Amino acid sequence: MELIETGDYGQLSDIACEEVCKAAAQKPHIVLGLATGSTPLGLYERLASAHRQGKANLSKVYGINLDEYVGLGKEHALSYARYMWYNFYELIGIPGEQANIPDGLATDLESECRRYDEVIRSLGGIDLQVLGIGANGHIGFNEPADFFARDTHIVQLSDSTRQMNARFFDSPQQVPTAAVTVGVGAIMGAKRILLLASGPEKATALAAALYGAITPRVPASILQLHPCVTVIADRAACGEING
Ligand code: PGA
Repeated sequence: MELIETGDYGQLSDIACEEVCKAAAQKPHIVLGLATGSTPLGLYERLASAHRQGKANLSKVYGINLDEYVGLGKEHALSYARYMWYNFYELIGIPGEQANIPDGLATDLESECRRYDEVIRSLGGIDLQVLGIGANGHIGFNEPADFFARDTHIVQLSDSTRQMNARFFDSPQQVPTAAVTVGVGAIMGAKRILLLASGPEKATALAAALYGAITPRVPASILQLHPCVTVIADRAACGEING
């Protein structure tokens, strides 16, 4: 596992952008596994700007989003579908068929999970997975649990995750209680993983993920078993690694 410690969030986003642009230059139809949340916003902004300026051509990429809230559709301002279109997909102008996000409004959520795994499979898996990390060590919405779930599944969100995400909603009660998330199978099947972490609230989880026991209680710890992970983390997020 390679760890790149950056001085700040801006530098983290610059390096992540360079990595994604390099990979997309080598493989224009690259399948990108993509995360939501605050951490990748700087990356998406830089990628959109590189695309606009002709420094990168992202028009052929495929996006596979990690997760979506159950009960929120793409018309909902706080759905991850809306986040992705607003912050990235629209800005690089890719057609809907290339932008994949689980449908949080599906009437049959189990079938939606199977459909989503089939989409990932039919694209040949993920080439480059961009991940954030939760303060509780989650990746996607794979929450701390008794076992690692391989396939896309429905997950009950932990209280700590709902509290963290309450900042986006008018009240904590409005945060959905469940989500559809890809499992660790699709994430670990990615050819390469970029794990991004910023801020002191991620320091404990990042240290546990990189150097602690491999356990489903810290879902990101499974990344220790992946052969090609680059962690890009700012100084604050590395606070419990450096001692
Ligand atoms: P954040 O979320 O980027 O908003 O901190 C990361 C995550 O929960 O995976």
